[in-house]
Amino acid sequence: MQSEIKSVKEFSVPALGLGTWQLRGKKCENTVRKAINFGYRHIDTAIFYENEEAVGRAIADFNREDLFLTTKVWKDKLHYRDFKRSAEASLKRLDTDYVDLILVHWPNPDIPTSETIKAMNELVKEGKTRHIGVSNFSRSQLDEAINLSDYPIVNNQVKYHLGMDMEPMLNYCRENDVLLTAYSPLGRGKVLEREELSNIAAKYGKTPGQIALKWLIVQENVLAIPKTGSEGHLKENIQLFGWSLEEDDLEVLNQLKIETHID
Ligand SMILES: NC(=O)c1ccc[n+]([C@@H]2O[C@H](COP(=O)([O-])OP(=O)(O)OC[C@H]3O[C@@H](n4cnc5c(N)ncnc54)[C@H](OP(=O)(O)O)[C@@H]3O)[C@@H](O)[C@H]2O)c1
Repeated sequence: MQSEIKSVKEFSVPALGLGTWQLRGKKCENTVRKAINFGYRHIDTAIFYENEEAVGRAIADFNREDLFLTTKVWKDKLHYRDFKRSAEASLKRLDTDYVDLILVHWPNPDIPTSETIKAMNELVKEGKTRHIGVSNFSRSQLDEAINLSDYPIVNNQVKYHLGMDMEPMLNYCRENDVLLTAYSPLGRGKVLEREELSNIAAKYGKTPGQIALKWLIVQENVLAIPKTGSEGHLKENIQLFGWSLEEDDLEVLNQLKIETHID
């Protein structure tokens, strides 16, 4: 099964991607390869995950243009020159000429955003990234980045899962053509323990994980990147398309409040 696509203006990305944090070496390489064979077309990595080389080895077996690849630059490398060097080193490790999206992994108040944006804009011009975005940015930080950039800031990647209220950020994103990527979309497994979720899953013959992910990706402007190293979960997490949740069930899910206390 393949993911549906989400778009804003000229930016399009599969709504369901594979998160790779904590996958390393052979395990990461094999998982990414399996994921692509199962229909995943969107892979999320970062310098911080120390797995770009493994991701690079896995994607080498496929047509690069069929894949959507995101990487992220760490917060101590946001000065102009550092950012460019860091991005170029990522391309080497990923063994590719370009990424589809490069993100600032975390904001850094000690480094002027204008420097980072200048570097990101140049990377777009040089064809080293197709799009640029941010991660863990507040609305005001995102607003500043958008105002400084010649190219659209198409994405903010933030923690978002069932039981969290994301309305203010989502409204901002919808008004400004930004897609929101939900990281930790399963709350690292913690949201799956809720009884309401098991009841709805049983009604549709789905798993709690599928319901939690479906709740995210039916929302306008929202993508999700669950991480898994398990073959069963890889298959399960992409089976989200071609079925729908009834309004009443979505309403029950919308009302949940869940604190996962994860960072
Ligand atoms: N930008 C940022 O600052 C940031 C921060 C955190 C994460 N991220 C990105 O977001 C991705 C996902 O977030 P995450 O890794 O924190 O958490 P997550 O995807 O919410 O949860 C991953 C955990 O859920 C389990 N799992 C996966 N599918 C499942 C299923 N269908 N049923 C039951 N359990 C399941 C996994 O175990 P198994 O492996 O055993 O399946 C793993 O323990 C990361 O890998 C990374 O790419 C970004």
